[in-house]
Amino acid sequence: METTFIFVKPDGVQRGLVGEILNRFERKGLQVVGAKMLRVDEDLAGKHYAEHEGKPFYPGLIKFITSSPIMAFAIRGVDAVTVSRTLIGATNGRKADPGTIRGDFGLSGGFNMIHGSDSIESANRELALWFPEGTLEYDKSSNLWTYDPSDLD
Ligand code: GTP
Ligand code: MG
Repeated sequence: METTFIFVKPDGVQRGLVGEILNRFERKGLQVVGAKMLRVDEDLAGKHYAEHEGKPFYPGLIKFITSSPIMAFAIRGVDAVTVSRTLIGATNGRKADPGTIRGDFGLSGGFNMIHGSDSIESANRELALWFPEGTLEYDKSSNLWTYDPSDLD
């Protein structure tokens, strides 16, 4: 089992898509092990997106992410990082496949509604940054019917 980090960006919250987006993760069978709504400050935005510092879109990205509240979630499951990125789709909503969150709801390269960690290393770094208090540990009984025993090896 892995835990990944996602957040619904300001455009997703403002457009009333938090429930729709979270529903896709729950429907898939993934487990929510952390949730919070917050207004991101420049310090947190800069730390989160440090890898993009210096790129042309970086100032606009920080302005966007700090412009209005976001909703953050810790999501757990087998291969949760990859599965979440598959649910989210390509960065640009105009290119993302239908059936993905960005493909179904987005038309923008920047306002793309949701972030998802891109590797286990990123997930661990981002979870420590956004959920320093840690995530919740609890058994999800439906996992017994979501995974077959070999999935859990
Ligand atoms: P995240 O899950 O948010 O990290 O998206 P990603 O992994 O699909 O994309 P990436 O990490 O490369 O970029 C981070 C975010 O910066 C994107 O989600 C966009 O919001 C924004 N971004 C990336 N590339 C561009 C770009 O070319 N133009 C603009 N306007 N925004 C961009
Ligand atoms: Mg990224």
